[in-house]
Amino acid sequence: MKRRFWIMFSLLSVILLASANSYGAHGEKRPEKRAILLAAFGTTVPEAQKSLDQMTDRVKQAFPGVEIRWGYTSSIVRKKLSKKEKSFDSPETALSKLMDEGYTHVAVLSLHTIPGEEFHDLYRNCRLFGQMSGGFERIMVAWPLLSSHQDMVSVSKALIKHIPKERKPEDAVLFMGHGSEHHPADAMYPAMNQVLGDMDSNVYVATVEGHPTLEDILPKLEKKNIKKVYLMPFMAVAGDHARNDMAGDEPDSWKSVLKKKGFGCEVVLKGTADYPEVVDVWLDHLRAVFSHFK
Ligand code: CO
Repeated sequence: MKRRFWIMFSLLSVILLASANSYGAHGEKRPEKRAILLAAFGTTVPEAQKSLDQMTDRVKQAFPGVEIRWGYTSSIVRKKLSKKEKSFDSPETALSKLMDEGYTHVAVLSLHTIPGEEFHDLYRNCRLFGQMSGGFERIMVAWPLLSSHQDMVSVSKALIKHIPKERKPEDAVLFMGHGSEHHPADAMYPAMNQVLGDMDSNVYVATVEGHPTLEDILPKLEKKNIKKVYLMPFMAVAGDHARNDMAGDEPDSWKSVLKKKGFGCEVVLKGTADYPEVVDVWLDHLRAVFSHFK
């Protein structure tokens, strides 16, 4: 309970991480060098990688002249990618390189959806980087996608806007979030259900690893006599979870479970990073960090 309290407290408190490193070892003022580190779980799916590349373009447009680097938090993804032609650093390796190269101000943008376990791990390590002597003058972590009620409203509007046009009002739409069994931020998903449901009563979110689960949503669909369900990812990219756990042909995929229950099923393989209005929310969080660099 105590730990949860501190996690929530750190969430609510400021995200300023470090300062007072503006002088080098011999007292000389260092020239200001700004960088953005984009941190994501990472993906081995080439189409999903394209979505992340588009994200780089959007960030470049919004912050011209600022160095942009990527850090993938998943060691499994990094290992798999290292066998191909393109390799990716962990956020920590990427930060070490930026530090070595004399960057003074670093804004870290987490492409996670909720401020869950992975976000907090990233936050903790960035904070430690901020404590190193002779290192960054400032390093700050931007909020992940959902960090306020306003974010939930903006993101819900964007998700609804990108539901395929063929969908009829009586068809349900079920978004697949990742979820987190062990983190209080999992409560963002029931909150999103509320916000989405207020905009369109046939739109739901369920999660792979947290709550609500698919089993929690099924009785609601049955009660409403829904005939057809659109399945869409509620993760930055349509990666492994979307392609296998949501849209795969295995008997335990969401598509298979829904079909077995007699629902018609359409899948959409696009992640939230593919929706410009969702990217706008992430960019706003990044702008908030940059406003502290002035
Ligand atoms: Co997962």
